Amino acid sequence: MKVVVTGSKGQLGTDLLLALEPAKNVEAIGLDLHNADITNRANLIEVFDGLCPDVVIHGAAYTAVDKAESEPELAYKINAIGTRNIVEACEKYGSHLIYVSTDYVFDGTSTVPYLEWDKVNPQSIYGKSKYAGEMELRPTDTVVRTSWVCGEFGSNMVKTVFNLKDKEGPLKFVDDQHGCPSFTSDLAIKLIELGLNKIPGRFHVTNQSPTTWFEFVKEIIRVSKGDVFRVVPIKTEELDPPRPAPRPKYSVLDNCALRLMGIDLLPDWHETLEKVIKKLS
Ligand SMILES: NC(=O)c1ccc[n+]([C@@H]2O[C@H](COP(=O)([O-])OP(=O)(O)OC[C@H]3O[C@@H](n4cnc5c(N)ncnc54)[C@H](OP(=O)(O)O)[C@@H]3O)[C@@H](O)[C@H]2O)c1
Repeated sequence: MKVVVTGSKGQLGTDLLLALEPAKNVEAIGLDLHNADITNRANLIEVFDGLCPDVVIHGAAYTAVDKAESEPELAYKINAIGTRNIVEACEKYGSHLIYVSTDYVFDGTSTVPYLEWDKVNPQSIYGKSKYAGEMELRPTDTVVRTSWVCGEFGSNMVKTVFNLKDKEGPLKFVDDQHGCPSFTSDLAIKLIELGLNKIPGRFHVTNQSPTTWFEFVKEIIRVSKGDVFRVVPIKTEELDPPRPAPRPKYSVLDNCALRLMGIDLLPDWHETLEKVIKKLS
């Protein structure tokens, strides 16, 4: 089976390729901006022509949430048109497609976890453009919405905080945004399971145990053996400078579809955090 991973040099893509390495009878191919710009339709079709993938895990995206507010056309070009091109290429070569989407498709006004069937209402350009990508998919494709992605590779909250653990001064993080961290090492395994089994539909896939950024950072510092008293809670309104893109106040994703289909959920994020910090140390 040939599995193509787009965004293969990104934080999720790197772990996807690592997780695919030991898979039997699977040839994994990584595509990224340098060898296949997904916004270049003709080139992308040509690349797929030489590959004829059975499965495509599409993680390539414009992910600069704040910057997207000032360059919306580029965000839509990559997340919507780029995904349209991927769908066309998959259609031509009979590939099953998994699209990785985001909790930012929701407005965050809920007080209970969002189901896969809840109404979306993205507030940021990034969220809108990622939802536009969802709208390009075929009914037989798979959508995996995830949140607060972090891990050993790329830049993310765990690595940022880990690198600050031995410095001095307060670490101010908001305690009024609720969500679930998702570790790329766990997420990759579930994406591969859904992909290799070509299971269609919309899934919410995150690690378990909702938290706030403040609590998450406190735990990263505790596990890294830093001083937890440096971590100070603030409100979103107190962020200085304020972030250009609005974030959902509450974006806990209920992994309902996995549960109802009897598919194992990802572990509690506390478990994976310990493992990732060990690797970073
Ligand atoms: N990070 C999060 O918290 C989060 C939360 C929810 C969902 N997601 C979704 O999860 C997926 C993976 O996210 P991530 O954090 O791993 O992202 P990432 O580290 O930013 O990786 C995205 C990759 O896409 C590549 N890319 C950008 N434009 C491209 C283009 N035109 N053609 C081909 N490749 C292109 C990037 O290459 P360059 O680096 O060279 O530009 C990068 O390697 C994305 O779909 C994202 O929307 C992320």
